[in-house]
Amino acid sequence: AKNVGILAVDIYFPPTCIQQEALEAHDGASKGKYTIGLGQDCMAFCSEVEDVISMSLTVVTSLLEKYGIDPKQIGRLEVGSETVIDKSKSIKTFLMTIFEKHGNTDIEGVDSTNACYGGTAALFNCVNWVESSSWDGRYGLVVCTDSAVYAEGPARPTGGAAAIAMLIGPDAPLAFESKIRGSHMAHVYDFYKPDLASEYPVVDGKLSQTCYLKALDSCYKELCKKYEKLEGKQFSIADAEYFVFHSPYNKLVQKSFARLVFNDSVRNASSIDEAGKEKLAPFADLPGDDSYNSRDLEKASQQVAKPLYDAKVVPTTLVPKQVGNMYTASLYAAFVSLLHNKHSSLDGKRVILFSYGSGSTATMFSLRLNAGQQPFSLENIAAVMNVGEKLKARHEFPPEKFVEVMKIMEHRYGGKDFVTNQDISLLLPGTYYLTEVDSKYRRFYAKK
Ligand code: ACO
Repeated sequence: AKNVGILAVDIYFPPTCIQQEALEAHDGASKGKYTIGLGQDCMAFCSEVEDVISMSLTVVTSLLEKYGIDPKQIGRLEVGSETVIDKSKSIKTFLMTIFEKHGNTDIEGVDSTNACYGGTAALFNCVNWVESSSWDGRYGLVVCTDSAVYAEGPARPTGGAAAIAMLIGPDAPLAFESKIRGSHMAHVYDFYKPDLASEYPVVDGKLSQTCYLKALDSCYKELCKKYEKLEGKQFSIADAEYFVFHSPYNKLVQKSFARLVFNDSVRNASSIDEAGKEKLAPFADLPGDDSYNSRDLEKASQQVAKPLYDAKVVPTTLVPKQVGNMYTASLYAAFVSLLHNKHSSLDGKRVILFSYGSGSTATMFSLRLNAGQQPFSLENIAAVMNVGEKLKARHEFPPEKFVEVMKIMEHRYGGKDFVTNQDISLLLPGTYYLTEVDSKYRRFYAKK
């Protein structure tokens, strides 16, 4: 199979959300901390009728319907998630209800978990399958689904929720350049979920930022090395039209791109002009950790990066700023933003994506885009996703109501023997929702 990659995409996020400005005031944070400091506008969250399983049922059903895919045509289904509902039974098995109905139980794949990286692991598994000798000619399907919730405190505004489905096959408009790729994997305790009774992570916020940036540096260096070996010339940020980042909050994306600019400057790459290189030269020899902690470097590199950031990154930031961190779906929601904003001008362009999962696992990889053909065209993908309308159709909750929902969810997490309030007035037709968890912890869903 040639030009294997993503043929079709759909995204779902809950209609329930809270404005960061309102949350900021409610939390007693200084004005601008969440909106300018973290760079976030709004945050989606699951109400008591939604969870990672219902969101993935919704998005998979929607993708199959809107692109006219026969469920029998799916041969592999992989899910990436870090939201643990069951320690054994995979989310993938819940999704089988969609396929069993059509007599298709011959579908490989289960769930992948490592913080926000599981979706990328699932995506690579599907792409590798289509490229392998075990491929049977059918489509792969990848689902990234997460509900990111934090305990009250500084991390709470960096939550979010969404599910994204991606159809995988040959001759894709979003094709993998599989040789242009770099990974960085290490053992760190920056963000983890050791308390199985709680949905909330244990997080060392500052450490997680540094680990993210270190992984970014390392992945970029590896990717450059591989590109240079392959192409016989230096890689720089000028060689890709857009850069898409895992987006816990927008400020980290700004810092990340500035870090790539700093890397290029130190490597004396052609992407940075002489004035920029002069500005960044004093920081070139800062030893390891000092370079991650230097405020002056951060400021100088963001200044030099600004025009490049506006051109190469801003078009990728819409959904993560509006929906929040969606963990495994976050990187792909940034990519969705790019497809939404630029679908008519992406033909022939290279896009670099950076996936980070705490703990830690990270990969930077490359896609080559082409206009594609109906129904798998960039134009149609943007139309199907309908991001603008979905954002508009949301309902803003006041902070008190949001906190109330968080309390109910805390109480319900890991629980049994309850029925939900079944208030589905805000859900759009076609949305799946949780109705009941019975005395044996079995979960039941219905479709609006
Ligand atoms: N106006 C404008 N900016 C402000 C204001 C204000 N009133 N107040 C603060 N700021 C700025 C700060 O200067 C800082 O920006 P800077 O980093 O450019 O200096 C930013 O707002 C955040 O302020 P901090 O004091 O650093 O925030 P705090 O430490 O309270 O929390 C954190 C931020 C650590 C990101 C927290 O939200 C968190 O732990 N989140 C979860 C961890 C996370 O997402 N890590 C990312 C990688 S791992 C992953 O994806 C899960």
